Amino acid sequence: MPLFKKKSRTASLQTETPSVLPRHIGIIMDGNGRWAKKRNLPRQAGHAYGAKVFRTIVKHCEKRGIGYLTVYAFSTENWARPQEEVDAIMNLLRDYLKESLRDFKKENIRTRFIGDRGPLAPDIQELMEEAEASTAHKDGMTLNIAVNYGGRHELVHAMRRMASEAAQGRLNPDEITEDRVSDYLYTAGQPDPDLILRPSGEYRLSNFMIWQSAYAEYVFQDVLWPDYTTEALDAALKEYAKRNRRFGGI
Ligand code: FPP
Repeated sequence: MPLFKKKSRTASLQTETPSVLPRHIGIIMDGNGRWAKKRNLPRQAGHAYGAKVFRTIVKHCEKRGIGYLTVYAFSTENWARPQEEVDAIMNLLRDYLKESLRDFKKENIRTRFIGDRGPLAPDIQELMEEAEASTAHKDGMTLNIAVNYGGRHELVHAMRRMASEAAQGRLNPDEITEDRVSDYLYTAGQPDPDLILRPSGEYRLSNFMIWQSAYAEYVFQDVLWPDYTTEALDAALKEYAKRNRRFGGI
C-alpha cells in the first residue's frame, strides 16, 4: 500500500465544496459592455466572452452539486439597446441552443427558459422548445435561462392568469396564498433562490426574480462577468456558507 494515496477527484471535491450549499443560485451576468470598452472592443465582444464564461460557470455549478441555476441573459428592458447589440445577444443564444442540442446527451442538465418568448424570433422559440424537451428527463442540475425576462412582467403575467381563472370560477380568491402565487410564476415547482450573485460592482437587483428572492442572500462581486472565474464562484459559495439565514425569525 503506498504511503501517500493519490487524492481522488471525489476527495478533492469534498474538501473544496462548502458543507452548506445553496440549492438554487441566481446570477445576474453583468459587466460585458464595460469589459469590452476597457479593451476598445465592440460591446458584442464582451457578450461573446460572457457567453463562454456562462458555459464554464454552468459546468462548475453542476460539479459543485448545485440543484438549480438561473442566469439572467436578456431582460425585458434590454430591447432598448441598439439593434446590433440585441441581434448579437440573440445570435449567441442561438449558437448556444444549437450547440446544447448537439451535446445534450453528454450532460445531465435540465434546461428551461423563463420569460416571455412571444417577441423572440420563431427559430429561437423552436430551439428553446427542443432544448427543453430533449433535457426534460435529466435529473442533474436544472438550468433556467432568463430571456426576455423581467420580475415585474412575470408577476403581471401571473396576476392576469389568476384573475382570469378567478373570473371563470376556477380559482377561489380566498385560496390565493404565497405558495399559490409561486405556482403561477415561470419557476413554478422550483425552490426559491438561496443565493443571488451580481458581479460587476453594481448593487442592484434589476428586476431579477423579485418575488422568488425575497429571502435570498446576496453576494456582490467586483469583477466584470467576462472575467468571472470558477474561483469567484467558489468564493461566493464560501461566503454563503458563513451567512446566518433567519427568514425573519431569530
Ligand atoms: C449585462 O452586461 C449582460 C447582458 C445584458 C447580456 C448577457 C448575455 C450573455 C452573457 C451572453 C448570452 C447568454 C447565453 C445564455 C448564451 P451589460 O451589457 O449590461 O454590461 P455593462 O453594464 O458593462 O454595459
